[in-house]
Amino acid sequence: MPVAKAERSREFLARIRQTLGEKRVMHSVFVAEYFSSFAGHAGLDHDEAVAAGLLHDLARGMEKEELLAQARARRIPMGEAQLLKPLLLHGPVAAEICREEFGISDDVHEAVYWHTTGRPGMGRLALGLCVADFAEPSRDYPEAAEARDILRKSGFGPAVLYVFEKKVEFGRAKEVTDPNTAATLFWLREHPPA
Ligand SMILES: [Fe+2]
Ligand SMILES: [Fe+2]
Repeated sequence: MPVAKAERSREFLARIRQTLGEKRVMHSVFVAEYFSSFAGHAGLDHDEAVAAGLLHDLARGMEKEELLAQARARRIPMGEAQLLKPLLLHGPVAAEICREEFGISDDVHEAVYWHTTGRPGMGRLALGLCVADFAEPSRDYPEAAEARDILRKSGFGPAVLYVFEKKVEFGRAKEVTDPNTAATLFWLREHPPA
């Protein structure tokens, strides 16, 4: 089903256009479209997938200071990683803003909140958003194409595992990583999604 037909998609699109540049708006639309293409197969609600895809990076254009101020004002818990790298707060801040402004469901809130780091025990919509964000077709790293291939050939569970393996691998090259990502991979290996 096309993204434009999803409930409230125009409203969400208008909202992200207020805060994001064209490139990030396009990325968000690609995430929503790609997520929408496999949500049904993965047993997920189509409109929730579109909402999560469109809204997930709503706070991605905020400066570090604003992310920290927003997180403090909204009492979002912060660890060392968030203090060193406030960009990690763009998911949590977006999730809180969207709940306030749009009354999004708990599943969409969870997906937007954890889309960068992951969290052990996260729900299926949230896992799906991580795959869609990592592998949407305009991503230019080869692992995105590989993730799409795995999803097509082997299904949702193997694609989720692959995406988190790569997230952990990419994280090793970064100065600051949130420990939730490695913990999520560990959890996924113990509880592989179907
Ligand atoms: Fe993001
Ligand atoms: Fe994103």
